[in-house]
Amino acid sequence: MAKKTKDDIPMGPTGRPYHGFDIPAPLASHGPARIIALCNQKGGVGKTTTSINLAAALAEYGRKVLAVDFDPQGALSAGLGIQTHDIPTIYDLLLDPKRDAHEVIVHSAVDDLDVLPANIDLSAAEVHLVNEVARETILSRVLRQVAGEYDVILIDCQPSLGLLTVNALTAAHGVLIPLECEFFALRGVALLIETIDKVRDRLNPAIELDGVLATMYDPRTLHSREVLERVVEAFGDDVLETVIGRTVKFPDASVSGVPITEFAPEHPAAQAYLRLARELVSRGAVA
Ligand SMILES: Nc1ncnc2c1ncn2[C@@H]1O[C@H](COP(=O)(O)OP(=O)(O)OP(=O)(O)O)[C@@H](O)[C@H]1O
Ligand SMILES: [Mg+2]
Repeated sequence: MAKKTKDDIPMGPTGRPYHGFDIPAPLASHGPARIIALCNQKGGVGKTTTSINLAAALAEYGRKVLAVDFDPQGALSAGLGIQTHDIPTIYDLLLDPKRDAHEVIVHSAVDDLDVLPANIDLSAAEVHLVNEVARETILSRVLRQVAGEYDVILIDCQPSLGLLTVNALTAAHGVLIPLECEFFALRGVALLIETIDKVRDRLNPAIELDGVLATMYDPRTLHSREVLERVVEAFGDDVLETVIGRTVKFPDASVSGVPITEFAPEHPAAQAYLRLARELVSRGAVA
């Protein structure tokens, strides 16, 4: 943050003045939820890490949050300390959308953060759903049952653009795209944007791009800075000002099954996710 703007505000890594964003005012009442899908078909870009830690950060600001694990790997459930081998999961709700979602929701150890868990069963869902009527809207029907009780629902998508991800995009009001500041970060993003555009055309006219989030940024490497520059060139103000740095604290926190905001609240990475939560509230993406 060496460069300064003309008003002497430090320059953030995206080349815009660095804002801290105000602490969101408490909400007088809760719901209906804005639904946000975290989506990128590239693997390992920080979708799950962002889902967990953004969810925890929003809960810390008094928002009622439901995190939906929509990946058969079940990494979001595991990262929040939930054992999923013999409990009902999101898969059971997809097979029977009239089944009460409340029976499947698990309270996490974090106040105001609930989870719709997933396990490997979900890998069979695409095969089961492919012949269903209105197969793209099944998750939307499931979430409708509980949306009134939450302020925000985050859907952690799997790294694919298949039917499950299309369900997530159809259910969502907004999409957040995490991009790793690495070689090939932008490869495949055109296809992702095309998929979002198709969903907007055919299934969900109101879906918005809530932002592109740069993750695993290492300001010490020229490479990381160049990738971020290119991402800003491609997406302009859709790139969120908050950038998530690369740190081993994330793998450490995942292993312990708690969000980084609880594992190491003073760590810059925890502070980055709290700032992301404030930025999304200030942009109107979250109440
Ligand atoms: N900012 C970061 N710094 C360092 N490591 C990170 C960071 N964010 C995530 N990681 C680690 O990188 C790996 C991939 O992250 P994550 O699981 O969040 O990505 P993903 O996009 O959900 O992956 P997948 O596509 O497989 O679902 C994990 O081991 C995670 O702990
Ligand atoms: Mg993941």
